[in-house]
Amino acid sequence: MTKNNFEGFFGGLTSYGDEGFSRFIRQVFLNSLGYTEEDFDKPVIGIADTSSGFVTCHKDMPQLIESIKRGISEAGGLPVVFPTMSLPEIMINPTSMYLRNLMAMETEELIRTQPMDGVVLVGGCDKSVPAQIMAGISAGKPFMQVVAGPMVPGRWNNKKVGACTDCRSAWSDFRGGRISDAELSDVGKNLVPTGGTCTVMGTASTMACISEVLGFSIAGSATPSAPSGERLSIGAKTGRAIVAATLNQLTPQKLLTKESFQNAALVLGAIGGSTNAIVHLLAIAKRANIEFKLADIEKHSNKVPVIVNCKPSGSGYMDDFHSEGGVPQLLHQVKENFNLNTLTMTGKTWRDILESIEYREPSGIGLKTIKNPVTSNGGLKILFGNLAPNGCVIKVSAATPKLCQHIGNAVVFESIEDMMQRIDDPNLDVSENSVLVLKNAGPVGAAMPEAGALPIPKKLAAKGVKDMVRISDARMSGTAFGTVVLHISPEASVGGMLSIVNDGDLIELDVDNGRIELLVDPQIIETRLTEMDKHSSIPQTKWGILFKSSVGQASEGMDLEEGIYKNE
Ligand code: FES
Repeated sequence: MTKNNFEGFFGGLTSYGDEGFSRFIRQVFLNSLGYTEEDFDKPVIGIADTSSGFVTCHKDMPQLIESIKRGISEAGGLPVVFPTMSLPEIMINPTSMYLRNLMAMETEELIRTQPMDGVVLVGGCDKSVPAQIMAGISAGKPFMQVVAGPMVPGRWNNKKVGACTDCRSAWSDFRGGRISDAELSDVGKNLVPTGGTCTVMGTASTMACISEVLGFSIAGSATPSAPSGERLSIGAKTGRAIVAATLNQLTPQKLLTKESFQNAALVLGAIGGSTNAIVHLLAIAKRANIEFKLADIEKHSNKVPVIVNCKPSGSGYMDDFHSEGGVPQLLHQVKENFNLNTLTMTGKTWRDILESIEYREPSGIGLKTIKNPVTSNGGLKILFGNLAPNGCVIKVSAATPKLCQHIGNAVVFESIEDMMQRIDDPNLDVSENSVLVLKNAGPVGAAMPEAGALPIPKKLAAKGVKDMVRISDARMSGTAFGTVVLHISPEASVGGMLSIVNDGDLIELDVDNGRIELLVDPQIIETRLTEMDKHSSIPQTKWGILFKSSVGQASEGMDLEEGIYKNE
């Protein structure tokens, strides 16, 4: 590192066995891009661009990137845009989670190996944000993140609608015969009216808030909508801030502490955030070498009730939360439990930031208060028991309270394909008191798709049943709702207890006491465990083999673990 704290374009020379030649040939190629001597005295700030024709959520990214470039140039840096993988939640088969670690790996290596002194990571759609944070931490260079921002909600039947909670409600109303084909098609034209990420507190919005709380995105940046001028001003401000962070050598390692993660978990609870964020937070903490476990997330997320009034836990949308002042005003509400000494990439602590942002009394439309919350119970609960010795998750704020204490007989589906084939079979032996069980949808089984909110069987939906207890080793979309137990660890495909559940077995869900139990004689369990076989639908491609052999369990963040073939 030079005395200016940056290396510019001539850092990390390509290895040709002759340093002089390496410098010369790099200069030759930079000449071709029109760079001049003055540019070689500036810190190079990379901008990771995840624009893609497949990612409609990133539709406004080109203009956002222009604003980031402007901010970097104004502050004396040299912006250089480079493309990376991009993960369109709705377009990837079987699930974008299959590629989160690949994107993290690719982004990290591009930051590490290309000559940039600092970097702005521009993401938004679900897995892109955690993948970029994981990459940024592992690469170890100063980095900041700008998210695409939420889409603007649409209107249908004189009410606000937006992806994706309302997509699910519309679909369930259609399945239950409450709306027609034509109405479904009509609402479908209004659910995603602009670019930007899903406009409820789904995974994208949750991770945007978490990126802000961890200090990687500037204060107030999670909530302005994608097409707004405010979003562009955030781009410019971030551009200026990353140049300062780079010159100050503010690496993620200097930023993150255990308290940063405790704050993130607290906010996850207060926003009624996506269960997917649990997996991502565990993986991010591991990348930062900070001891932070499922129990920590439960403990800190439950210190406050859900106070952000966004679907699926509440009734509003991200624009409502933004109108209340977004994350900084949320932090004003929870600051007694929030560690204000944690640092952000702007070089300011959260204490400095909140002192400069005046408190506003929430209206209740997008943000409520601790005394008058959206739900008085915490948003997330970690359950243990013989079915999940290493833990599983339920989003209590999106569950039906009376189903949270429940005993029912299992209706078992061996895989997602099996479930899709039989769930609507009129002869399926199921009642509203049954517990729907989905196996082999965990990390090794199927890359953990968001299939955990199994559809209510058509014959029950037609009778008006809207929720049932559902359990699986899968994930659930952050925009979904219901009494849904997820992330069972260890998963069925590596021999977890879920693999031996049979039709008719009794299962007890006891959310109050944090338990989930298979009520089967221990001797029968022993016998079944010796007879079960393992199942995975991960493709036998090069990445599929690497993924399947080295991915960790949900309770550990599902990152690639060291030790190839550990799951064979
Ligand atoms: Fe991209 Fe919801 S599909 S954030």
